[in-house]
Amino acid sequence: MKIEKIGVIGAGVMGAGIAQAFATSGYRVLLRDISQGALDRGLATIGTSLSRLVAKEKMTQVDADAAAGRITATLTLEDFHDRDLIVEAVVEKFEVKKAIIGDLDRICPARTIFASNTSSLSLTRIAAASNHPGRVIGMHFFNPVAMMQLVEVIRAIQTTDAVNAAVVATVAKLGKEAKVARDSYGFVVNRVLIPMINEAINCVYENVATPEDVDAMMKLGAAHPMGPLALGDLIGLDIVLDVMEVLHAGFADPKYRPSPLLKQMCDAGYLGRKTGRGFFSY
Ligand code: 3HC
Repeated sequence: MKIEKIGVIGAGVMGAGIAQAFATSGYRVLLRDISQGALDRGLATIGTSLSRLVAKEKMTQVDADAAAGRITATLTLEDFHDRDLIVEAVVEKFEVKKAIIGDLDRICPARTIFASNTSSLSLTRIAAASNHPGRVIGMHFFNPVAMMQLVEVIRAIQTTDAVNAAVVATVAKLGKEAKVARDSYGFVVNRVLIPMINEAINCVYENVATPEDVDAMMKLGAAHPMGPLALGDLIGLDIVLDVMEVLHAGFADPKYRPSPLLKQMCDAGYLGRKTGRGFFSY
């Protein structure tokens, strides 16, 4: 399967990071969002990240400019008609993803691969929204995309072997490592990582330790690069809650109960870095 032209839908933190990863590896990328403001913010995120890589001498200015030049922003989904692989990184709402897949079914030829960056929704259910479910797969990137080596590839029960192999080969061309998981609640990384963050929040909720100390303990005692509360703030506490709710409902196991404090933080709009306030201030 020829994978040359890439489409990325959603120019938020993840979509921007994914577009940047493909462009840095030489792919031509169309990046789409529903407003010019969102596209501008996405392109600015990419510019900042590329500048950081140049400042750290991980990339030359010439390569950074070339990567930025390979990304074209668009508001028009019809422009995706010639894409080989489309990665969707829109809001974690099944109905939104379903509508996009319906539109893409109409716009794209049957050979186009549809990958979802969902962090918690069932890939099998997303695949079932397509007229060609065998072409749907999960490509789960991690934040910050420029730094994280893994792409968790999630096979829906409908995903074909050819699509799986093409996506795994493409991840290698991004200089990242693909690991394949079968579709299951939270897949592997979020099933392990997010309950750990939830438990750190419970430590704060139960006044076991302050947020600063919980994070310091996990950095000093478990060699985590950043503490679980800072990581929750980076991911977005709304996403953390989404994943916990999927695990809790899916496995019907009380061990996945979302922390009451996590719910309160989300109710208050203290979602982490993106709102300027979470367990820490930004
Ligand atoms: N673009 C480019 N470079 C970046 C960057 C970005 N967006 N973010 C960080 N960097 C670079 C910095 O420039 C720096 O480069 P250097 O090593 O050459 O100095 C390097 O990353 C380290 O950054 P900092 O010195 O600022 O800070 P840290 O040493 O704390 O590293 C971190 C930052 C890479 C984020 C590190 O703390 C880390 O690995 N944290 C864990 C992140 C993680 O677990 N992510 C997964 C989240 S789960 C997820 O995304 C899935 C979803 O479905 C929920």
